[in-house]
Order: sequence, then C-alpha cells, then structure tokens
Amino acid sequence: MMKNYLITFTLLFCLIAVQSTAQINPYKYHSQKKITVTKGAVVSAHPLASQVGLQILKAGGNAVDAAIATQLALAVVYPGAGNIGGGGFLLGHLSNGKNIAIDYREMAPAKASRDMYLDSAGNPQMNLSQDGHLASGVPGTIAGLFASLKYGKLPFKKLIQPAIELAEKGFTLSDAQVADFNESAKEFLQLNASPVAFVKNGGFKKGDILIQTELANTLKRIRDLGAKGFYEGETARLIVAEMQKGNGIITLDDLKYYVVKERTATRFGYHGYEIVSMPLPSSGGILLQQMLGMIADKNIAAMKFQTSASVQLMTEVERRGYADRAAFLGDADFVKVPVKTLVSAAYLKQRMADYDATKAGNSKATAAGNITESEETTHLSVIDAAGNAVSVTTTLNGHFGSRTVVSGAGFILNNEMDDFSVKPGVPNMYGAVGNEKNAIAPGKRMLSSMTPTIVLKNNKPYLVVGTPGGTTIPTSVFQSIVNVIDFGMSAEDAVNKPKFHHQWLPDLIFIEKDFDAATITALEAMGYRISKRGNIGRTEMIQVKNGKIIAVGDKRGDDAAEGY
Ligand code: DON
Repeated sequence: MMKNYLITFTLLFCLIAVQSTAQINPYKYHSQKKITVTKGAVVSAHPLASQVGLQILKAGGNAVDAAIATQLALAVVYPGAGNIGGGGFLLGHLSNGKNIAIDYREMAPAKASRDMYLDSAGNPQMNLSQDGHLASGVPGTIAGLFASLKYGKLPFKKLIQPAIELAEKGFTLSDAQVADFNESAKEFLQLNASPVAFVKNGGFKKGDILIQTELANTLKRIRDLGAKGFYEGETARLIVAEMQKGNGIITLDDLKYYVVKERTATRFGYHGYEIVSMPLPSSGGILLQQMLGMIADKNIAAMKFQTSASVQLMTEVERRGYADRAAFLGDADFVKVPVKTLVSAAYLKQRMADYDATKAGNSKATAAGNITESEETTHLSVIDAAGNAVSVTTTLNGHFGSRTVVSGAGFILNNEMDDFSVKPGVPNMYGAVGNEKNAIAPGKRMLSSMTPTIVLKNNKPYLVVGTPGGTTIPTSVFQSIVNVIDFGMSAEDAVNKPKFHHQWLPDLIFIEKDFDAATITALEAMGYRISKRGNIGRTEMIQVKNGKIIAVGDKRGDDAAEGY
C-alpha cells in the first residue's frame, strides 16, 4: 500500500516536473501586447514569465499562485529587475472580499547607520549607496513569496519548478536584453571579482541563450528547504562571503531575522470606484490618495486627455504630493507619519487653496503642507477565474541593482539603500529628496514609490495596475487610472499614451518624447519648464469590463499579456 502511494507520489512529482514548462518554448517566443479573455490573465515584463503565470492558472492555481510563479520566473528571464536578491510588495483583492498587502521590502542591515554614505566632510558618496556590496538592503523577496503562499492553492515546489527549468535549460535573450546586458558589462566586470552569467566574452549576440546554473542551484535549495534555503545555510553563507569581498555589511543574522510584514491596504473612494493600494513603507498609496483627492472635485473629465488644462492640474497635484512625500514619509514602524491628516479631505482642500489654473506654480512657494500634529523595478498584474486579483511590484532598485552578483549563487543583489535619504535634501538616483523621516537606521525599511494598485467597481476588480519607474511610479499609476475612469480611454491607450511627471523637485515637468506639441507650448506659456526624457514606466494593466478580461502589456518593453 505504502509502496503504491510512493509510486503514485513519485509519478505525480515527475509529472509536475515534466509538465512545468512543457507548453513553453523558451527558445522561441514573442511579446503579445493585448489579449481579451474570459477566465484569467497575467501581464508581466517578459513573455516567458507571463506564460509561466498562465500555465499555473490553467493548472488550477489561483492569482496568488500565478503571481508567485511569475515573480520566480522573472528572477530568471528578466534579471535586470526580476529578483530573489531584492524586495517588493504584493497587493491582492481576493474573491472573498479580503484585501491583502504583503510588504517584503528590503531592511537596512544591523550595521547600517544614518551617515554611512557620507565622507568625513559630510559629503554624500552616492556611488556607495548605488554600486556594489554596501548598496544592498537585506533581500525580502523569498520571504515575501512564502508569506504569500498561504493565499495560494498549489505547493511551492510546483510554483518554482518553471523558474528552475528556465535557469537550467536557458532561454533565448530578447533583442532588448542582448543590448542591455552588453551595455552593463563594464559595470558587472568592475563590481564582481568572479565571472558572472550576465557578461559574455565578446558580447552577447542576437539569439543567444542564457543558462544560469548557479541560480538554478539556488532555486533548488529554496524548493527543497523553503525560505531557509535562502536565508540560512548555503545561500546565506554565499551572500555573506560575497559581502566580505566588497565591504558589504549584511550578516548571517541580518538574513535570519529578515521579517515580512502584512500591512493593511490603503483604501479610498474616487468617482464611484474604490482604490486599493500599498501603504507605507511605500509612498505610493498615500500619494495616489492625495493626488486623486486633490483633483476629485475639479471635473477633469471635461478638460480631456493631455490638454494644457488637465496636464497643468495634474502637475500641480503631483507637485504638492511629492513635496509632502519628501517632508513627512518614511517607514512608519520607525518614525511618526501623519498619514490620516495627509489624506484627509480638509487637508487636501487646504493644499489646493493656492492653486491657480492659469499659471505655473513653483516649488519654492509650494513646500510641504502645514501639519501641526506631532530603473530597476518590474510590475505584474494577475486575475483568475474566481475573481482574485493580484498586483505585484518588485525591484532591485537601479538597473541590475547593485550589479553585484552573489558568487556561487548566481543572483544579483539590490541597491535599495539608495532609496533612503542619505542626507537631508540630497537627491537619490531618482532625484527624490527626503529628511530624517527616511534616514537610515538598522532594521528600517527605505521609503518606496512602488504602487501596486487594484481599482474595484461594485466591490469587484475593475483594474489591476502598476509599473516600475522609481519616483514616476505613483504619477504613472495616477495618470493610468484617470485615463480610464475620467477620460474614458481603453486600457491599451491608458497604458501606451505618453506620460508626464512632476515630483516637486526638480521643478520641471518631465514628458515622454511623443507628448503633444501644442500642449507643451501652452504649458510653457503658463510658465512651466518642460524636460523631454526617455520612457516613463512600463505599465501592466488588466481591466475587467462587460464580463471580459482585457490584459495589456506596455509597448515600452518586452512586456507581454497571456490569458485564457
Ligand atoms: O522602491 C522604489 O521606489 C524604487 N526602488 C523603485 C525603482 C524602480 O522603479 C526602477 N525602475 N525603473
């Protein structure tokens, strides 16, 4: 009897293993940008990761299972941002009505200190918070995935298997990735003592296959030992050994005592919809509530998409929101943050008291509100047949994080420490400034902009949305939501039409290159300074409309939508 069970179990296990990437061809794939389906969908930054998510949905997994498997696959096929050496936020709305907000943001190591990135004269050394070993916070991703598992249905072994196979057998790099790896080769070589999989002698060429054996072995340890396969034992030992090569400070204890936090999701109403988003240590949910709150009574729909009137209004609320971000926000487990006041209707009304629709505001005059009370990230959106929706943003912070690969373990460590304010008023790599609220302290989480969001209509998921983009994240999510709800745009247009961004300092409106020329002229005439820049974000959106699921991957990258 026992033997029969054993055989059945072994067969089942083999079936799971064999099936895992059976329908996926890692050597030939393309980015499907939009699909309309009825059961479930996954949108992520890489076609193979979206396919993994879809396969998990079809195998009986729910949206949480698919989100876990997609993140693990992204850690293999999209190493610039997908990660096991970084952190993220998972926001979900379950079919039973429960909202979940899982915080697996990196933590500052125990040896971190407020002035650790200042030289003896007090000048910031931004290379230390951005490049190499000292830039890394204690990774949270694997702990986050295991914390998410209780909302899923399938065993972890099944969710991680596709990632293991993609790492072991390899996958064809997309053209964008070939260029990307080659551009970063110099930094990888500078910041690593041992050879790394992401650099090839003579450079990667179109159609090259990337095999990551060390990463596959790390993933197998996680499969076999659970979170301990990352935070203790061999992987932890390899991380600490890597730290010692480059003045890093993460210790075995830092890894062992990393904690995931389940938070209460931020929830608020906007024009008949309910918005569910990420609370602190993300600034995203608060910023979104502030910005939508400040435009709520202004009839922005009548102003229409990207006219000077609507862009001016949105710019002014962005300016005010980001001024508050710099002044008041930080990890609320360490510092006092007046969240209730910041999002209250009375406060937001007062913030807009000096708003003038005819001319540019300015950031000197518009400092933070008066309160008396004491590029690299990636997003994925998933929905399943039962109506569970999951929105995940996860990051290494900068492109390829610290560019330090844990030798022997094959994964890149984050440079998330740069999201702290290394010195009051000194901009980080996204130009964001902060103060003591976001100062470094052992065990503290650095303030984030990641804004995984779900918009509910009649208590059911209507939009699942999010994006990478550093400080541009909350403004992109804000604009994507307004595009759909107020401007009546399709999900596809809401994602792909040009975006803009204002973050208080610098006092500029950043715009994407195909932004409307007449609107630019009108804004300049009002006194705005405009700065053209590259892509803003890579938004992944799912919309549920008239019983159909419309999933859209951003045109700005390899992003792909899959569904059934
Ligand atoms: O948490 C944050 O706000 C940043 N570390 C996000 C970085 C990011 O989006 C880079 N992507 N392009």
